[in-house]
Amino acid sequence: MPDSPVRKLFLKTYGCQMNVYDSQRMAALLKPLNFEETDDMHQADLVLLNTCHIREKAAEKVYSELGRIKTIRNRRRKQGSDTLIAVAGCVAQAEGEEMARRAPFVDMIVGPQSYHHLPELITKVLRQKGTALLTDFPEVTKFDAAMPDVAHGRASAFVTIQEGCDKFCSFCVVPYTRGAEYSRSVTEILEEVQNALDQGVVEITLLGQNVNAYHGQGPDGTVWGLGRLLFALAELPRLQRIRYTTSHPRDVDDDLIAAHRDLRVLMPFLHLPVQSGSDKILRAMNRKHTQAEYLSIIERLRQARPDIAFSSDFIVGFPGETEADFEDTFSLVKAVGYAQAYSFAYSPRPGTPASLEPLQVPEDVKRERLHRLQALITEGQQAFNQASIGKTLPVLLESRGKKAGQIMGRSPHMQSVLVQGPETWLNTLKTVRITGGYANSLIGVVV
Ligand code: SAH
Ligand code: SF4
Ligand code: F3S
Repeated sequence: MPDSPVRKLFLKTYGCQMNVYDSQRMAALLKPLNFEETDDMHQADLVLLNTCHIREKAAEKVYSELGRIKTIRNRRRKQGSDTLIAVAGCVAQAEGEEMARRAPFVDMIVGPQSYHHLPELITKVLRQKGTALLTDFPEVTKFDAAMPDVAHGRASAFVTIQEGCDKFCSFCVVPYTRGAEYSRSVTEILEEVQNALDQGVVEITLLGQNVNAYHGQGPDGTVWGLGRLLFALAELPRLQRIRYTTSHPRDVDDDLIAAHRDLRVLMPFLHLPVQSGSDKILRAMNRKHTQAEYLSIIERLRQARPDIAFSSDFIVGFPGETEADFEDTFSLVKAVGYAQAYSFAYSPRPGTPASLEPLQVPEDVKRERLHRLQALITEGQQAFNQASIGKTLPVLLESRGKKAGQIMGRSPHMQSVLVQGPETWLNTLKTVRITGGYANSLIGVVV
């Protein structure tokens, strides 16, 4: 549509990195309709929220944001312009119909597997009134639509290689919002990574809700796992760093461990969520592994790659969790010595088995346990970061820091590293001597 006027798109992303990736794809899809991104919602012709359903708070944020958007749209209408409102992502998928009732002013609701239809939906909505709702899991996948503008002048890019989840942990909405496991083909992934490298990217993060369950079709017609894919990616010239997230302990296999042993481009850092240290709770969560099995996977990875560091997610206050169960989580955290970790109070999600459990833990108990766990995690992070003082690390400088002249980058272990330097250093790898270590970041000087 070369003759159509330039239109402004305000795009806000909630939730996980897969949503960040999807947002990049949606922005690329809307470019041919002449949509340009703006960070001012008041200017936007189209407001698009890419939403997350993982915890109640995440979903509720969307409705309060929609209220604000409606006010802005009404003001714009009085001034003779209009705002289209679209909701994408996991809230759209999980409660699309409810949303159409609760927020009838929303023009378009598209699920995470249907957003490649956004351009035609927009054209349709511009012609008629009412909410268009599209939350199918269609045959033609979104990956066949526009190649995302992954680079945006950045040195680091996400590439989704796997989507959906068949694990059905009893607390989790993802199998319902993202559907069954699906792996993209090796050829498709290599092409997208190559495209990113051609745009100047040097670090790739492979994404999947359950990324190490990857089982895509290889160019030789056989099924490849993540380990084999990593070995193939490591061959690509100019690719300097590979990461992948999020992994499930059950899907760590020998090939993946071999990749950590043999590939220098594979960063020595792994986000391997365990959720709880109690075998009783792990069973109730349907995680299908014990604390001992998890620790033995960590041990094997450490033997393969001695400098590997770990992070995890934890849920506290899962139904039936006693103080003794919580203490098992505490001792697991101490045993592993995480470089960083995220922890959440259990949030009952509609449609999940755990939400129907009779023994829900009271909110104040959850809050108190979360507080204790977070203090322990922060202590561990601080110790890990302090151990970096005096070391010289390769740091990929990625963004401006909060203070003038400050640039933020990432160490191989995913630590945030702050240095002073010119903006021309952005998107380059520099060698940094670490001079300070805090709970959430390191500071250093480029040598
Ligand atoms: N696929 C990943 C997790 C995706 S969701 C995995 O298997 O680990 C990201 C994190 O959100 C989860 O690891 C979990 O810690 C948290 N989470 C998921 N559902 C939750 C719920 N109902 N309440 C609280 N936290 C939850
Ligand atoms: Fe959710 Fe992860 Fe469990 Fe899948 S493996 S159900 S995404 S927590
Ligand atoms: Fe949230 Fe959906 Fe990701 S529920 S965490 S945006 S898969």
